[in-house]
Amino acid sequence: MHNVIIIGATGAVGRELLGILESRDFPVASLRACASARSVGGTVAFRGEPVTLEAADPDVFDGADLAFFCAGGSTSRALAPEAVARGCTVIDNSSAFRHEDGCPLVVPEVNPHTLDGMAGAGIIANPNCSTIIALLAISPLRALGRITRITACTYQAVSGAGMAAMNELESQARAWAAGEPLPTEVLGREALFNCFSHESPVGPDGMNEEERKLQRETRRIWDDDSVAVSATCVRVPVLRAHTEALHLEFDCPVSTEDARAALAGAEGIHLDDDPQPITATGMDDVLVGRIRQDHGVPDNRGLALIACGDQLRKGAALNAVQIAESLVSARA
Ligand code: A2P
Repeated sequence: MHNVIIIGATGAVGRELLGILESRDFPVASLRACASARSVGGTVAFRGEPVTLEAADPDVFDGADLAFFCAGGSTSRALAPEAVARGCTVIDNSSAFRHEDGCPLVVPEVNPHTLDGMAGAGIIANPNCSTIIALLAISPLRALGRITRITACTYQAVSGAGMAAMNELESQARAWAAGEPLPTEVLGREALFNCFSHESPVGPDGMNEEERKLQRETRRIWDDDSVAVSATCVRVPVLRAHTEALHLEFDCPVSTEDARAALAGAEGIHLDDDPQPITATGMDDVLVGRIRQDHGVPDNRGLALIACGDQLRKGAALNAVQIAESLVSARA
């Protein structure tokens, strides 16, 4: 049994995490929940009981052995080392430690072996949501040949920008129906009836941070620095499930029949030839469909498909809990 602490328990990912720990019957002996100063003293619910929200101070980790961080990079950078110093294993949802030596970056269905060295306290990084969903969908296809290039175009839900962004999209819909001006304080623009390039900072090479994450994290998770990743990341007016159009180039001819067979038996994947964010919402599995030959690649070496997954579940909270479950079973 584990003494668990959640940093960012009132946020979109934190709340999902509470529900997933409960529904998967994770062995929780005690649970503490932290949020920002404005929420301290309020409560969140766990197993039907209120849990009082505390400030995220270093002392809060005393006695805890497992901490989930869902409060953004600066909070993770400040507090995750404090948690580790107190004997905690940290599973961090931010990008703060995703490329640190000694901090594995893990999708349990794809690279579970990277958890092997994590016998005690330390930091495990939960990958970016688009990376998790893409790699869950395409990793089984590596059995057909070496994937030399991935071209990913994403259609990302606003949940990736947090609870406030989800609330704002709903408020925009209500305002539009009432004929009022649309609120844009959180996303900085109209998301309703619109789509826009991912709001993360654009680097000197023109790539935004989300596109760069897909590239760097894919290479680390696959342990393959040679795979070419071209990404275009876009927000769409969807609440909480990401869709991704994925084009793959192999080093040998591949068939759609073999691809379908490889995906049909894969853990965490549900084949669906009309993958939609509405269907994926609330699901643990990632929907994969529209599997077809990509005729833009010669010699039948190309495949194209669509993946669609709940950003808050497999893209964040569920993957974090699955990492914790893998640790628990390895340590048992
Ligand atoms: P709060 O609700 O009090 O602002 P989201 O990703 O949905 O925006 O959620 C962010 C989460 O991180 C929320 O739970 C938020 O709490 C929490 N948070 C933000 N800043 C801090 C902080 N400095 N310390 C602890 N939790 C924080």
